[in-house]
Amino acid sequence: MKYKIVTYGCQMNVHESEKIAGLLEGMGAAACKEDESADIVVFNTCCIRDNAERRALGNIGVVKGEKKKNPSMVIAVVGCMTQQSGMADTIRSRYPYVDIVLGTRNIFALPEEIKKVLAARAAMKKRSDKRYRAFETDYAEDYLALDEAAPVARTSFPNAWVNIIYGCNNFCTYCIVPYVRGRELSRPMPAVLDEVKRAVDEGYGEITLLGQNVNSYGHDLSGGESFEKLLREISRIEGKFRVRFMTSHPKDLTDGVIAAMAESGCVCNNIHLPVQSGSDKVLRDMNRRYTRDRYFSLIEKLRAAMPDIGITTDVMVGFPTETEQDFKDTTDLVKSVRFSNAFTFIYSPRKGTPAAEMPQIPYAVKRARIGELIKLQNTVTKELSEDYVGGVYEVLTEDVSPKHPGMLCGRTESGRLATFPGTPDKIGRFVNVRITEARSASLFGIAEE
Ligand code: SAH
Ligand code: SF4
Ligand code: F3S
Repeated sequence: MKYKIVTYGCQMNVHESEKIAGLLEGMGAAACKEDESADIVVFNTCCIRDNAERRALGNIGVVKGEKKKNPSMVIAVVGCMTQQSGMADTIRSRYPYVDIVLGTRNIFALPEEIKKVLAARAAMKKRSDKRYRAFETDYAEDYLALDEAAPVARTSFPNAWVNIIYGCNNFCTYCIVPYVRGRELSRPMPAVLDEVKRAVDEGYGEITLLGQNVNSYGHDLSGGESFEKLLREISRIEGKFRVRFMTSHPKDLTDGVIAAMAESGCVCNNIHLPVQSGSDKVLRDMNRRYTRDRYFSLIEKLRAAMPDIGITTDVMVGFPTETEQDFKDTTDLVKSVRFSNAFTFIYSPRKGTPAAEMPQIPYAVKRARIGELIKLQNTVTKELSEDYVGGVYEVLTEDVSPKHPGMLCGRTESGRLATFPGTPDKIGRFVNVRITEARSASLFGIAEE
């Protein structure tokens, strides 16, 4: 059997798809090549914004045609979208050709459910016989144990994703994640350390620790575990490797974590610290539980501890209570912090969240605001890129450049993408690159021997 996984959403989902791949390979299936038709199609969905959801539903609609050509195909929908209230029923009635719907804490049931679908089909005598369909979105109680036992088929060498905490307890008023991913669950520290060690031994040069809020790691464990302690323990693992993590919530970023980052030989001078807004009023309405001043002070502490740190962020425009003045507070903050990059989003109302109930801002206003913000950040990114020209930076080679034939690409410790001439045997290796040119967010250079 050949399988295909279509992934939407964040890194968490990218890694979850690696686990799904591990489960499917465990039952003897193989990844399908571009031109092959799949026997098992899994949609790993996201519902963070309306467009993510529409894209997933659109493509689930499209697969109907493929299924007509290949009636033995098994179609599964998993991930965050399935966990929204009413969604499993919607799929049940509107997408009758979908065989399996599993929630965010049920993916380990996938092989069993596929077997049941196939067995029921084999036993069907007439077209009118009832098919077997699976709908399971109640969180599995033994989720952590199932997760530890499941295999992972990694797909992003030389980077290894490693989960440290699942779920979210923060309930930012715009966000659907706590409703679809459940409450926070930290993995035991020995399990995380083991996985990191194994990945380093297998030659992965970069480990990215994943969680909706990595800074709250350990609060639900009983041995005094914390994110700081985890970073310090990981730093004692032998071998040449880098550590990144995402995402950090500013309200929980402690001095101890900053010190652990600065003192560690492997944790990168790089942090993704989503600010969302520069207005205290909007931050309060979002339930972010930090102020603009507190955010500035974190930036100061990070830069004092690691002068060359690369800081990226997420910014949202068009939150219901955002006025022109609030938006100006955001652009002012973006101007003064000088992020190396910012991911910018238009607020999208999510059913069931408090902000979706508030009076909304016209779309045209949101559009204009995001346009201005993107322009501003592009200018900052370009200016910061110029500073790299002439310097030599250690880069972990990730891949051949998708856009420039004969070139390789990788990241500096600070998280900047660098492109340089080289052969694919360098993939996974650390090389020193002299930067000769900066083009907006991308750096170009030459590898030094
Ligand atoms: N846990 C991470 C964020 C995960 S979602 C954190 O707290 O930082 C990634 C980003 O999507 C968020 O930082 C936010 O900027 C954006 N986002 C979340 N909900 C959104 C919504 N309803 N509309 C638009 N953007 C949203
Ligand atoms: Fe969503 Fe806030 Fe949790 Fe991040 S911290 S996942 S933005 S609720
Ligand atoms: Fe989307 Fe779920 Fe990630 S909603 S952004 S895939 S946590």
